[in-house]
Amino acid sequence: MKHQRWSMCGGVGRSRGKMCGIFAYLNYNVARERRYILEVLFNGLRRLEYRGYDSSGIAIDADLRSPVAIDKGEGNDGRKEASRLPYNSAPPLVFRQEGKIESLVRSVYSEVDAMDLNLEKSFSVHAGIAHTRWATHGVPSPRNSHPQSSGACNEFLVVHNGIITNYEVLKETLIRHGFTFESETDTEVIPKLAKFVFDKARDEEGEQTVTFSQVVTEVMRQLEGAYALIFKSAHYPNELIACKRGSTLILGVKELSDDKNSGKLFHDVKALTKDEKPKELFFSSDLCAIVEHTKNYLAIEDNEVVHIKDGCVSILKFDYGREKPASVQRALSVLEMEVEQIKKGNYDHFMQKEIHEQPHSLTTTMRGRLKDNSVVLGGLKDHLKTIRHSRRIIFIGCGTSYNAALAARPFLEELSGIPVTMELASDLLDRQGPIYREDTAVFVSQSGETADTLLALEYALGNGALCVGVTNTVGSTLARRTHCGVHINAGCEIGVASTKAYTSQIVVMAMMALAIGADKISTQARREAIINGLSDLPKKVAEVLKLDGEMRDLAKSLIDTQSLLVFGRGYNYATALEGALKVKEVALMHSEGLLAGEMKHGPLALVDETLPIIVIATHDACFSKQQSVIQQLHARKGRLIVMCSVGDAASVCPMGSCRVIEVPQVADCLQPVINIIPMQLLAYHLTVLRGYDVDQPRNLAKSVTTE
Ligand code: AGP
Repeated sequence: MKHQRWSMCGGVGRSRGKMCGIFAYLNYNVARERRYILEVLFNGLRRLEYRGYDSSGIAIDADLRSPVAIDKGEGNDGRKEASRLPYNSAPPLVFRQEGKIESLVRSVYSEVDAMDLNLEKSFSVHAGIAHTRWATHGVPSPRNSHPQSSGACNEFLVVHNGIITNYEVLKETLIRHGFTFESETDTEVIPKLAKFVFDKARDEEGEQTVTFSQVVTEVMRQLEGAYALIFKSAHYPNELIACKRGSTLILGVKELSDDKNSGKLFHDVKALTKDEKPKELFFSSDLCAIVEHTKNYLAIEDNEVVHIKDGCVSILKFDYGREKPASVQRALSVLEMEVEQIKKGNYDHFMQKEIHEQPHSLTTTMRGRLKDNSVVLGGLKDHLKTIRHSRRIIFIGCGTSYNAALAARPFLEELSGIPVTMELASDLLDRQGPIYREDTAVFVSQSGETADTLLALEYALGNGALCVGVTNTVGSTLARRTHCGVHINAGCEIGVASTKAYTSQIVVMAMMALAIGADKISTQARREAIINGLSDLPKKVAEVLKLDGEMRDLAKSLIDTQSLLVFGRGYNYATALEGALKVKEVALMHSEGLLAGEMKHGPLALVDETLPIIVIATHDACFSKQQSVIQQLHARKGRLIVMCSVGDAASVCPMGSCRVIEVPQVADCLQPVINIIPMQLLAYHLTVLRGYDVDQPRNLAKSVTTE
């Protein structure tokens, strides 16, 4: 089967990566004080914070060595070193710290103070690199944090996202060549390998014969695994090199006009190879860290080596089979993201902001896609015929993304007439479940970088299925590796708990179901009703958000409970799972989402006067069954909280015997979008009241890029 990709092509099979963050900043022909450079780097790290990390680090330039120090062979730190650095350069300064970024910031300023480094010193060109690390190889500690170094003089420094799978072999070889290792990381082999390559070339061919990009491409030739890397070197001052294989890496470009330092548009990287205009260049593993500086970006592709030198950007395409990498031209894209998206604004937490912005995020998700009673999804239209002929559709995802797919399953089955099965990505991989060429596999992921989902994608690609992506992240691995797909356009989601992405994912999958089923006359009236319901949805979401105060009161009443059950069925089985997941992950309270139809097969034994149980009983085909569930729970003196459609309170809860949450009614298949919102609000308020970290819950990261 031959398929066309939905966005940028490229990419090789990837392996696991780390939940780390990369940021780099290079100013060219524009004076920037050291303090300013530090703040840009720290701020970049703060923007990456939400992804999860346990340590961080940066590297900046030191002052040039004094002639006396050079003659004595001293490094900037005063130690006598057999430095082979260029005559007028100094070893870059590296700062690394375990724990929060603010503790790195404090330690940098106090070290800088102790070494009497001038923070007001101005650099017309300077290259700084920064990193947040999530420990995999070695405990969180300064020595295991990045930048990792080639050795005493920091001749080569590297920040790395990903995993080098052959690092043990490389390490043994480098040790045999006299290198000593300081950290337990896989990353440390990279700067040391760079130094090895550089020294070898210089010994064989003399001073200044090997270029920075030659060193890096030779290093790439030796590396196996997944990586996004940035190199900084004392041998190539004011230059940076970025390369990647697997992990995401973005270049941001901001040209500064002579007068007001305002950003100006570039359309082609080619333009950057010629001029000497003042500019600022950024590398990051996440667009969120770039958007406040510029909207002009390039998603670097696998095996590209991006070299910044003298204010110019050149891109080489690395190829294992070719001695010399070929030069490539790439167009810059314009980022459709507003700075406000990465700021809390008037809200206390990102999760709170993201819950409340759902009327807007849903509008953006649907913008330009609903036309004259039909749905237009540009990324899918060439593949609809293949999908309609599939033997089955398989939804694959993890966590909230899986739950969103589960919410979409009933109406996709209804509108397409094709069997739809559900797979948690990790379980599919554990079982190596059967996937066939006749299958359409739909991968759902907010980040587009979840390791299990991506490994399942490689598995499905290997089995010849048509692979469709649903993601929030432009340029993500999921977007690049699937044959086609749809961006949910919910805007940057920073809270670890997924909220607005969940509702946008459901809406995208509803639109997918409408597009797939568009050839069926028999369902036309139903489709039109759903399309009308979609147009109305942001307004209804704004209405349900008014329950905020009520959900805070409910949270107060539940603050000390140990456990919470949520019963749902039909369209709202997913709501039960997702509502319970939200409470669990942020409020750190045990909660379980259950299929109401399973109640009598076990969970009923738990029911007593103390255990709070939320029953979702909004008006749909399962309503009477849920009424019966409520009666049975009531008969056992269950502590009931019932979510029902506005006006149904009396029929779900006779004589005010339980607490009721009334929500606006929408088309049955869109009801999960409405019903999850009180649950999100409940989880949020429970977390605040219980005093836990809302945006970065204990032990969790935004993107789970390890298996
Ligand atoms: C959501 O609140 C969770 N943090 C988590 O379950 C998440 O949905 C899951 O890790 C999948 O992430 P993805 O959507 O980025 O693939």
